[in-house]
Amino acid sequence: MRLKLLIVFIAGVALSACARQEAGAPDTSRAIETAVVQLKAAGEAWKDAANFARSWGDGTFHEMELDDWTSGFYPGSLWVTYALTGDEELAELARHFTAKLADVPAMTHTHDLGFMVMPSYGLQYVITSDESAKAAVVQAAHSLASRFNERIGLIRSWDFGDWNYPVIIDNMMNLEMLFTVAEWTGEEQLKRIAVSHADRTMENHFRPDCSSWHVVSYNDDGSVESKTTWQGASDDSRWARGQAWGLYGYTVCYRFTHEERFLEQAKKIAALIMGLPNMPEDKIPYWDYDAPGIPDAPRDASAAAVTASALLELQGMVSAELRKQYRSYAEDILRVLCSDSYLAAPGTNGDFILMHSTGAAPFNSEVDDAICYADYYFLEAIQRYKAL
Ligand code: GLY
Repeated sequence: MRLKLLIVFIAGVALSACARQEAGAPDTSRAIETAVVQLKAAGEAWKDAANFARSWGDGTFHEMELDDWTSGFYPGSLWVTYALTGDEELAELARHFTAKLADVPAMTHTHDLGFMVMPSYGLQYVITSDESAKAAVVQAAHSLASRFNERIGLIRSWDFGDWNYPVIIDNMMNLEMLFTVAEWTGEEQLKRIAVSHADRTMENHFRPDCSSWHVVSYNDDGSVESKTTWQGASDDSRWARGQAWGLYGYTVCYRFTHEERFLEQAKKIAALIMGLPNMPEDKIPYWDYDAPGIPDAPRDASAAAVTASALLELQGMVSAELRKQYRSYAEDILRVLCSDSYLAAPGTNGDFILMHSTGAAPFNSEVDDAICYADYYFLEAIQRYKAL
């Protein structure tokens, strides 16, 4: 009898230890070690190349030109990992790969300048106080502002396609650069443009449940021409990364303005994401919450990483009750991303850090692949988590 009790006791202790491990802190140390190995290997492989590696899948790299919207993420991953480790080899690579973007700040044909310039030159300035990096960010902010139309009250996203004046939810991510430069230089005009863009987006991009359309196009008088998708499953579906861009974007707007309406918007988007009935148990979303083939639809680790990072900022802006919920949700995501299910084994995965992201499923492009922006927002989320 005593032996039986002892066995039950030992089994109980072992089970609760497993449960604790499962529900414990994410293994960020292992993720950072993996990042160091992968980022250095990628640096070695792409140092002298004209392009960057944007993603990897089925043994093939998807390369990008330096004016691609994703070109800032590898330099940004290097800067964040340098900040996390102090490894000077990473700083050297970060400087090298950031310098490759020298022509980007002057570009005016794209709205993606914030994505490209904030992780690269922006972090270079924040981490090293290099004035030339600051000048690059200031120039990029002016280039982005040149795409603002006063009558419509929004920054134009794309110059391709049949839309009259397309604005995508992703564009919310580029406002951080305008707010930042307005603070550095005192140019209130840049802040005004960012606030106008955020307000008009709030007016027209969101459905009653606070999910968002991907592309809203405007007529010249500022009225809405159409509400459609580009990367989502259908015009009325909820494209996972789009919801994450909105959450992150409005959190940033509140950081810079302290306007309650932006905080409320971020909280509503967080509630939508966290309450979705078809969110998989591990909280790594399908590429679209309305994707065909759920529960076997491909996942998007990048949307999860952006969500975790945004929640880790938002938790610092809300009541104790919400703070607990946001932290716990972000922690759950990070625990899964730091596990073998998503974290690559060093030396594999085309030298990327995370597996299982989806870029543009409707075009069968980058489906269930390793993608550079997933790595960047994952590392940023780890940095924010460690700073708590
Ligand atoms: N900004 C494009 C995307 O999220 O795929």
